[in-house]
Amino acid sequence: MKTQVAIIGAGPAGLMLGHLLRAQGIEVVIVERATADYVLGRIRAGVLERTTTDLMDQLGLSARMHAEGLLHDGFNLADGERLIRIDIGALTGRPVMVYGQTEITRDLMDAAPDRGLEIIYEASDVALHDVETDAPYLTYNRDGVAHRIDAQFLCGCDGYHGASRLAIPESAAKAYEKIYPFGWLGILADVPPCNHELIYANHERGFALASMRSEKRSRYYIQVPSDEAVERWSDDRLWDELAIRLGPEAAAHMTRGPALEKSIAPLRSFVFERMRHGRLMLAGDSAHIVPPTGAKGLNLAMSDVHYLSQSLIAWFTRRDADAVANYSNKALARVWKAERFSWQLTKLMHRFPDDDSFDRRMQIAELDYIANSIAAQTAIAENYVGLPL
Ligand code: APR
Ligand code: PHB
Repeated sequence: MKTQVAIIGAGPAGLMLGHLLRAQGIEVVIVERATADYVLGRIRAGVLERTTTDLMDQLGLSARMHAEGLLHDGFNLADGERLIRIDIGALTGRPVMVYGQTEITRDLMDAAPDRGLEIIYEASDVALHDVETDAPYLTYNRDGVAHRIDAQFLCGCDGYHGASRLAIPESAAKAYEKIYPFGWLGILADVPPCNHELIYANHERGFALASMRSEKRSRYYIQVPSDEAVERWSDDRLWDELAIRLGPEAAAHMTRGPALEKSIAPLRSFVFERMRHGRLMLAGDSAHIVPPTGAKGLNLAMSDVHYLSQSLIAWFTRRDADAVANYSNKALARVWKAERFSWQLTKLMHRFPDDDSFDRRMQIAELDYIANSIAAQTAIAENYVGLPL
């Protein structure tokens, strides 16, 4: 098979990129290792920046998001004594959209057939070839049959564990990584949220987050040691712990219910420089990971594919080689700023096992500064709603 752009991975990054290119008439094929149901079964964060909702609007795929999503004008940092409200609406003029990132994936997936976006599911052993030449191609197996797709560009949207990044020689790139000494244990339940806005809490027993998917579905997290086993957390134990860490006010409004999902995710910061090698372009989690504090993962994938689609459109409409060459620098400038924000919010709100009393005083001083400084709140707010493209 021959196409203009072959995309590896049908997660949010690959699907959005596919749609943006199809909207300009570019031929695209996506190869995905898993089934559509598996991709939709992955639970993700739930806060969308305006850059992300704008892309959905631009594609004309935002009707359900606007109907079901909740616009939030603020969120809260709890420091054990008080709630510090960050009034993002007043400070930046922009709300955020609370809408499950899984729902974005579903909306993009459902629209694919109508837009001529071909997705090949259950493609195994995807391998990338000749990415340093003008004629790259990929191979895969499906139902025991070997296939080959020739393309002008290969786009690696296959997440952190995908094949694309591995096709770039070590000598051509540098990876930056930080692993945090804890994970997040998350619970999803069909109960109303304890608060109308999100609460990020720094408690002496560890971080907790109260979030939501809708007015009837809540999502909560607590910080746990990296080697924690999810089996050790019955629903009751987890609700008790949330009530302690989120504080009496939130606990009084917390409705308990059976877990629809309960899992532990590790926390990591990771950046792979560069995001292009020859005719192979990386976007989303294949190139970078942020810890979930601040919910930047999907939003960053969306800004990557915005830049990437513009570069490829410039190539296909006017053979603009500079646009292709500049993709990595453009995307990385925004990636590093989101890395900084996610790392800083993670440091501020978690209890690190090796922190000493001085480190703790720094957290207290910073939270106190944020509580009393509009400048500090503005800096947090403009990062939370998403820096401009
Ligand atoms: N071949 C084909 N497909 C692959 C391969 C492979 N070798 N490896 C992984 N994939 C597929 C996965 O099955 C998955 O559907 O690539 C997709 C990658 O999707 P994500 O991991 O969701 O990555 P991305 O699209 O970059 O997501 C960006 O969205 O919701 C957030 O937390 C999420 O931060 C992430 C962001
Ligand atoms: C979520 O709702 O899952 C969520 C919200 C905000 C975050 C992380 C996760 O920072």
